[in-house]
Amino acid sequence: MKNRLFEAARKAMANSHSPYSSFPVGAAIVSTSGTVYSGCNIENASYPEGWCAETSAIAHMVTAGDTRIAEVLVLAEKKIKTTPCGGCRQRLAEFADADTPVHLCDANGVLETIRLGDLLPASFDLD
Ligand code: THU
Repeated sequence: MKNRLFEAARKAMANSHSPYSSFPVGAAIVSTSGTVYSGCNIENASYPEGWCAETSAIAHMVTAGDTRIAEVLVLAEKKIKTTPCGGCRQRLAEFADADTPVHLCDANGVLETIRLGDLLPASFDLD
């Protein structure tokens, strides 16, 4: 699954719209139903209106009718082991568990896997 997620994120990253940061990012998630969704970061001339690759991937998953994330992978062209930003950690937590693996990469594949709960401890949630 890690390889499938990496390929999906790599393809998504190739479509990143990031002319302002020149920092292309791709993300891929697999839902508990087994479907892979991907997304890229999409920036805007009005800078705060841009959004992250993880947000795009989550939007694709929810739009398709899936509601739970089983695994996450994030890939950036220019930084090894890019981690989701704070806002995306919270968005991922809405649809994932503390034990959900988040794979961090370099250009060749997964370098490290972290639990979402370790990226976002003591998170605010429905409980
Ligand atoms: N970015 C992501 O897409 N995901 C992350 O996890 C970190 C940051 C994007 C946002 C912006 O388009 C660019 O990277 C530079 O911050």
